[in-house]
Amino acid sequence: MRHQKLYINTIGCQMNVYDSDRIARALEPGGYRQTDTLEEADLVIVNTCAIRAKAEQKAFSFIGRLARMKRQNPKLLIGVGGCVAQQEGEAILSRMPHVDLIFGTHAIPRLPRIVDQAKTRRIRVVDVEQSDEIDEIDLTAGFHSDGQVSRFVTIMQGCDNYCSYCVVPYVRGTEMSRHPDRILSEIETLVRNGVREVTLLGQNVNSYGRKEGLSSFAELLERVNGIEGLRRIRFTTSHPKDLSDDLMGAFGKLAKLCPHIHLPVQSGSDPVLKRMNRKYTRQVYLDRIERLRSIRPDIAVTSDFIVGFPGESREDFEATLTLVETVAFDSIFAFMYSDREIAPASHFKNKVNEDEIKARLQELLAAQETITLRNNRALVGTLQEIMVEGSSTRPGLAESIDAGPQWSGRTPGNKIVNFSPGRDLGSEETLQVGQMVAVRIEKAHAHSLRGELVRKEPSEGCPRGKECHAA
Ligand code: 5AD
Ligand code: SF4
Repeated sequence: MRHQKLYINTIGCQMNVYDSDRIARALEPGGYRQTDTLEEADLVIVNTCAIRAKAEQKAFSFIGRLARMKRQNPKLLIGVGGCVAQQEGEAILSRMPHVDLIFGTHAIPRLPRIVDQAKTRRIRVVDVEQSDEIDEIDLTAGFHSDGQVSRFVTIMQGCDNYCSYCVVPYVRGTEMSRHPDRILSEIETLVRNGVREVTLLGQNVNSYGRKEGLSSFAELLERVNGIEGLRRIRFTTSHPKDLSDDLMGAFGKLAKLCPHIHLPVQSGSDPVLKRMNRKYTRQVYLDRIERLRSIRPDIAVTSDFIVGFPGESREDFEATLTLVETVAFDSIFAFMYSDREIAPASHFKNKVNEDEIKARLQELLAAQETITLRNNRALVGTLQEIMVEGSSTRPGLAESIDAGPQWSGRTPGNKIVNFSPGRDLGSEETLQVGQMVAVRIEKAHAHSLRGELVRKEPSEGCPRGKECHAA
């Protein structure tokens, strides 16, 4: 059988990256092999994101460009999956006459049949049915890490929180958790194939297993921590309202759990948080950060913000700025509020005008940049445990004072470090991807750090998963 070529364009979050892997896996038994070359594809799938209008426009503009390819090759199949497909369903067919299949976020296991129908019967197929059971696809059969040492593992799907601006509960359905045994066995397979770091994914991992009475997230982490050969555990995303004492305690207990938490706050103003339906106050958020830092003083804290939520006054925005100063985040993602028709906030009054939103976004990002740089500078002179992830690609590095190979990796707190072999170790030093090394931080930039390799084994004097201020 001639293999068919599958090209997947993934737009959006890490959940979509993981889902694209599931799409490829689901289609493999039918003879589809992935390609990086769009022009040679027999089937093109666009895995879409609906979180903001911009992501949606990006999807439609890519799908629009495929019309020409389809005219040249009428046998080409074009599929649209993910959150926009779930949200728009059939409407995409009339808007985009060259699209053959639309499949929602719960339809991935049914994809082989959907593709087969579109191919053999030359009909256009729409499947946006949502199920109330978690859809498992075995991602591990015949798995090869392809040299990647860090992988995502989804532990749950959907969301029950209904933040007033957000499409996720509508397009990804109700929250459902995977059985811990399946998660454990998936990670064990990854580790057997060379993976050293996993990031556990969910819209709100803090409520993992609660509905089903399966296990708490802290218990799951403890089991993952016991997997031999795994070096690092990360997770995202956490909702501040569900951050339990047990989970905070895990940062002081589990050696492999990296000292980093992504804890989206969205706004520093209580009235805005209330209208966003976030179910916590600024003070509750600050208290949780303080507690996390008392358990794990070196914990890196990052966050998401929405700027210009309907009704956000200058005073509300200033509350966000003071929160950013108080917490001194390691980094943040800040987004301009985007009206989403299916989310309740699209009906809220007092929309902030776009120029004002843009100006506030710039102000917030500038304030954070100073803080990030300050936090990064505080690391200069420290020894950091780095997991080698690859060769450094920073342009102009070759002319820098450090000759020889350049490497890159991340600190336990998730900061990118570019580093050279170091004077004592010689420029012929070779490192393996996935190896843990000790690097002395020499320079801080806004988005990365620069350092020098000190030891190929970080264990002496640099405890696992901890920053080491040995310098
Ligand atoms: N507009 C702008 N940003 C949004 N986010 C979610 N919905 C919207 C929206 N309608 C942001 C939130 C969330 C991140 C993933 O995307 O900050 O944490
Ligand atoms: Fe969206 Fe809120 Fe759920 Fe996050 S917690 S996915 S912002 S509804």
